[in-house]
Amino acid sequence: MITQDQVMRGLSLVIEPDLKKNLVEANLVSNLRIQGKKVSFDLKINNPAMHSKQRMTEAVEHYLGQHVAADIEVEINYIPLPNNPNQREGGQRNSLQSVKHIVAVASGKGGVGKSTVTANLAAGMVKKGYKVGLVDADIYGPSMPMMFDEMQSVPGGIEIDGKRLMTPVESAWGVSLMSIGFFAQMNQAVVWRGAMVDKALKQMVNETHWGNLDYLFIDLPPGTGDAHLTLVQSVPLTGAVVVSTPQPVALADARKAVAMFRMSNIEIPVLGIVENMSFFVPEDMPDRKYYIFGQGGAKALAEELDTPLLAEIPLVTSIREAGDVGRPAVLQVDTPQEKAFLDLASAVENAINIPV
Ligand SMILES: Nc1ncnc2c1ncn2[C@@H]1O[C@H](COP(=O)(O)OP(=O)(O)O)[C@@H](O)[C@H]1O
Ligand SMILES: [Mg+2]
Repeated sequence: MITQDQVMRGLSLVIEPDLKKNLVEANLVSNLRIQGKKVSFDLKINNPAMHSKQRMTEAVEHYLGQHVAADIEVEINYIPLPNNPNQREGGQRNSLQSVKHIVAVASGKGGVGKSTVTANLAAGMVKKGYKVGLVDADIYGPSMPMMFDEMQSVPGGIEIDGKRLMTPVESAWGVSLMSIGFFAQMNQAVVWRGAMVDKALKQMVNETHWGNLDYLFIDLPPGTGDAHLTLVQSVPLTGAVVVSTPQPVALADARKAVAMFRMSNIEIPVLGIVENMSFFVPEDMPDRKYYIFGQGGAKALAEELDTPLLAEIPLVTSIREAGDVGRPAVLQVDTPQEKAFLDLASAVENAINIPV
């Protein structure tokens, strides 16, 4: 006869690798049922990626096989822990505990306005009253120092519990910034090797003293390569936003980006697609819309991929100018660009609050 006690004792030998606590201590096991040699239970897991589940299943089978019964049959129903630490029980998340939501902003293609959208989304969230951080992980073209007029700034340092951490640059518009650009001379071509990229990204996110944040946005490099996969797997992401322009080539690459996040071993919720440069709005005729790159492309793609179209951002000269002088366009009151970026911020808020 297998008893509940025996099983729980066996499970207390298994460590959840991210939380670094055993399954019983972190209160991750529930609904334990025993029928003869068959044991089944629900198990909360920090990283719901397929490879983590497989490793966990192997560990559980090993310890229950050794300590309970060699011929035990185990059935585990995995339940991902909520990304929002406020919705978690104490101790069920160990990294970045003070950051509520981490959102990656990606694009398949460069030059679609990913960084512009990220900067304005971040500044828009500040306008809505949130505490916001931003990591500029674009090794190929870090642009946040310029977009926030912090080209001369460097991150600071702080020691917490004997550990050296970096402190972000506090920009004038209330967004706490970390950028790969702070660590490399702006006009110096930097050749990053894969391992260095890995390390730099992890450090910028995990080894920075962010304080309490509602949102931490990550401006990913364009494309769907290694840097993305590394980051995506080393950070507890709430979800990802994909930026595209209306042209078919950009949309085809946006589709690849969505597919990357949905890969079976990645499984990051896609919060939605942002269409940038949807239509041209002349500065002197703010009510006009010219669909110079075609109309409805991102909407159709979003429908096809069953994800929300979060916003349509106009092409406006002052969005570019604002980026060049380091004052995000969302700060220009009563303009189509302010409205578009605030709508985007609300849509991201909603997408996060709907369980995916
Ligand atoms: N909606 C927009 N209206 C006008 N200019 C824009 C808009 N979005 C981006 N830009 C401009 O396009 C260029 C590329 O944008 P950027 O955000 O750097 O793209 P990415 O990060 O995708 O490479 C920049 O000069 C930027 O100011
Ligand atoms: Mg960029």
